[in-house]
Amino acid sequence: MKEIKITTSLTVFSDISALPDHIEELMKQAIQIREQAYAPYSNFFVGAAILLENQKVVLGNNQENACYPSGLCAERTAIFNAGANYPGVKIEAIAISARSKQYQVRKPVPPCGSCRQAISEYEHKQATAIPIYFMGEAGEVYVSGSLSNLLPFTFDNTYL
Ligand code: THU
Repeated sequence: MKEIKITTSLTVFSDISALPDHIEELMKQAIQIREQAYAPYSNFFVGAAILLENQKVVLGNNQENACYPSGLCAERTAIFNAGANYPGVKIEAIAISARSKQYQVRKPVPPCGSCRQAISEYEHKQATAIPIYFMGEAGEVYVSGSLSNLLPFTFDNTYL
C-alpha cells in the first residue's frame, strides 16, 4: 500500500489594484461582462475574460435557462467562444468575477468542476499553463498558476 499526496497552492492578491496592470485590465473586463449575464433564476452574475496570445480578449458570462441544466457558466461560454473564434491561439490568462443580487460576494469564486474540466482540455491542448485569476465582487483575488492546481488527477485524452 502506498499513499499519493497532492499539494496545491494559490497566490492571493489583496484586491484588483494589486494585480499586474494587464491582468487588472482583464479583470475589469470580466467585471463589465459579468453585469450582462443572463441570470434571472440564480441572480448570481459571473463574468469571464480570456486573454489570448494574440492579445485579443474574449468574453463570456453565464446564460441561464428556464430548464436549469440547459444554461451555461461564464467560463465555458467564454472558452468555447475563444475556441470557436480563435482556434489554435493560445490562452495566456483567464479572469473571473462573480456578484450576487442577494448578498455581497467577498469570497473569490473559483470555476465549477465542469468548467475546470473544460479549461483543462485547452491547457492540455496548448501544452502551457493557463493562469486563472478569480474573485467575488470585491476584495481578494486568488490566482491559480495553472488549471491543474484546481483539478488534480484530470481526465484527459491520454486515457482514450
Ligand atoms: N456559474 C458560473 O457561471 N460559473 C461558475 O463557475 C459557477 C456557477 C453560474 C451558473 C449559474 O448560472 C449561476 O452561476 C449559479 O450557479
